[in-house]
Amino acid sequence: MVSAAARPYIDASVPVLREHGLDITRTFYRNMFDAHPELKNLFNMGNQASGVQQQSLASAVFAYAANIDNAAALTPVVSRIVHKHASVGITAEHYPIVGRHLLGAIQEVLGDAATPPLIDAWAEAYNELATALIAAEQAMYKQANIAPGQLRTMRVVAVRNESEDIKAFVLQPEDGQAASDFKPGQYVSVSVTFDDGTTQLRQYSLSDAPNPRTLRISVKRERRGDVTPAGLVSNWLHDNAGLGSLLQVTHPFGDFTPDTESSAPIVLLSAGIGITPMISVLNRIAQVSPQRQVVFGHAARNSDYHAHRADVAEAGKTMARLQVSTFYEDGSDCDGVATFAGRMALSRLPRWDHGEANVYLCGPVEFMQEQWRALIDAGVPASRLHREVFGPELLNYLK
Ligand SMILES: Cc1cc2nc3c(=O)[nH]c(=O)nc-3n(C[C@H](O)[C@H](O)[C@H](O)COP(=O)(O)OP(=O)(O)OC[C@H]3O[C@@H](n4cnc5c(N)ncnc54)[C@H](O)[C@@H]3O)c2cc1C
Ligand code: HEM
Repeated sequence: MVSAAARPYIDASVPVLREHGLDITRTFYRNMFDAHPELKNLFNMGNQASGVQQQSLASAVFAYAANIDNAAALTPVVSRIVHKHASVGITAEHYPIVGRHLLGAIQEVLGDAATPPLIDAWAEAYNELATALIAAEQAMYKQANIAPGQLRTMRVVAVRNESEDIKAFVLQPEDGQAASDFKPGQYVSVSVTFDDGTTQLRQYSLSDAPNPRTLRISVKRERRGDVTPAGLVSNWLHDNAGLGSLLQVTHPFGDFTPDTESSAPIVLLSAGIGITPMISVLNRIAQVSPQRQVVFGHAARNSDYHAHRADVAEAGKTMARLQVSTFYEDGSDCDGVATFAGRMALSRLPRWDHGEANVYLCGPVEFMQEQWRALIDAGVPASRLHREVFGPELLNYLK
């Protein structure tokens, strides 16, 4: 809890910081990367370039300050951050660097309005949040029995074209030991070093049930758009990772972990590459409780872009209460019974008991916004809705 002296300054400056938030975060990253170019290897420079990350780190600090008395609102935000931080190997030594440049950026952007007591108050709030994050991250490294940022060399032992733009890679630890255990829904970070010596990390959800020998990831090739460049790591993996290749992979982390071990009905809704964590969940349920009611909704552009169909068909052989609805946006190959034309529509999904089932969503932000609203309108309690975002979580976008 920040001190009584600091509190009024925080309260008074939250709206000001919100107004100048983007300027502050841009200044913060620019100054930090100028002073510490080595940190570019740690951050996702694609997110920096597209501007998504700028809204994330500092806005979390401001959200923390704004909700300082509302621990319940902060718990999920903090949980997501510490899992992401653990996945990329953040340590206590990094925090003073970020703190210095964040406070410096507030000062630079606000000018004279950033009085010494105001800066002191924000320093106190930052340190408080940093202390909580550091403790949580250290506990995660300890529990996983790894050093921060520790990478494991894994050999690609199978590659499968899952769709027009998705390849699945099966990875086996090169050290001969068991593959890392994980909960379905979790992700690993893959570290790629390019010819120019720069390194980048990207997260990939594990796309099969845990097993002691291998991990599987499924990667969508992020193609060049009209004005956007081709994605760095996904294209590198598609073009360079083949049978026998060695990849550097982190321990699995992530707090999107649907309950695979219970017997309650469960609803898994995904679009595009968002199917990856759902397949891990489905395959685990097929192993442990094949009699469970599972509603599996998936949306894709068309059947050429529909990944992991074989996994769903295989699960269906043993899961009598697996109900699958597929939506093809371009309207091809639809039978109107299990495969529908257009975007996912709640009315076309099988019915389930809203009071009993948790609903898990993963896909593009637009897809999740649409489904989230439809589910709430249909009377599904918000407490039953859970989501995974394949990028920095932008706070409150689902409201
Ligand atoms: C928890 C989590 C789980 C994930 N799971 C999966 C998964 O299972 N499978 C999967 O395929 N992906 C997954 N992702 C996404 C993945 O981590 C990468 O973000 C994705 O592969 C793109 O990375 P990239 O290096 O190819 O693209 P990047 O180089 O990072 O580019 C990303 C986007 O930014 C745009 N961009 C880059 N530079 C600029 C610029 N200068 N101006 C404007 N736009 C720009 C690119 O065009 C591209 O569209 C997951 C992400 C998270 C956070
Ligand atoms: C109080 C301090 C901090 C806060 C509030 C914070 C907040 C965040 C948030 C909100 C995200 C996005 C999580 C998501 O994916 O949704 C994030 C990711 C990240 N943070 Fe932090 N962070 C802090 C400190 C640090 C420090 C000290 C570092 C290291 C220099 C760091 C490096 C990163 C990296 C590398 C990512 C992953 C995003 C990317 O790949 O660019 N953060 N952080």
